[in-house]
Amino acid sequence: MPGLFVTFEGGEGSGKSTQIARLAARLRALGLDPLVTREPGGTPVGEGIRALLLDHERRPTQLTEALLMVAARAQLVATVIRPALDAGRIVLCDRYTDSTLAYQGGGRGLDAAMLAGWNASATGHLVPTVTLLFDVPISVGLERRHAAPGATNRLDREPPDFHERVRERYLELAAADPARWSRLDATVSTDELEARVWEVIGPRLAGVRG
Ligand code: TYD
Repeated sequence: MPGLFVTFEGGEGSGKSTQIARLAARLRALGLDPLVTREPGGTPVGEGIRALLLDHERRPTQLTEALLMVAARAQLVATVIRPALDAGRIVLCDRYTDSTLAYQGGGRGLDAAMLAGWNASATGHLVPTVTLLFDVPISVGLERRHAAPGATNRLDREPPDFHERVRERYLELAAADPARWSRLDATVSTDELEARVWEVIGPRLAGVRG
């Protein structure tokens, strides 16, 4: 595949969205044209699913929640991510398959192999080239999130032990596949974190067309 597929993962309040914007700006300054997208969402179908998933008033079962996450992903890969990668572009995606493994697998306790199978089917086995894990202690992340007015969604409001399990699962996933994952300490300053991200991504740009 000619493009470069980078995913951003982490718990609540890890600062990953700010870092995506900063990385995209750096790439644009180099004359590149990265595609920036997010999950759940990123397509008209996916944004509709996102509204269902994050609404405080709705109560999907655990299986329904997982299937909707994966459904939004299938649409995003088919209509946005694959075409961009095929055109040689860099794709920066805020959450991807590993969010389902961490939140629905680690957090909710759904079967990991089942979720991995759904991910593979929905994405046609499309795996990121690089996955950045923005790792922060739960207390720091939740404090940051709750300090941002109006920013909490249905999943943010899960109890701390849910978020602990999400973090643990992320750390396990990262440890199991160090060739793809880079764990970044997201408690450092925004500028420092931007520099760490660049250390990982900069060397991967050789050979990328767009
Ligand atoms: P969002 O507001 O985008 O949160 P963040 O800024 O933390 O990325 O909300 C996305 C929420 O959906 C977040 O709590 C993580 C959750 N999520 C899952 O539980 N499973 C998934 O597969 C994905 C993509 C997201």
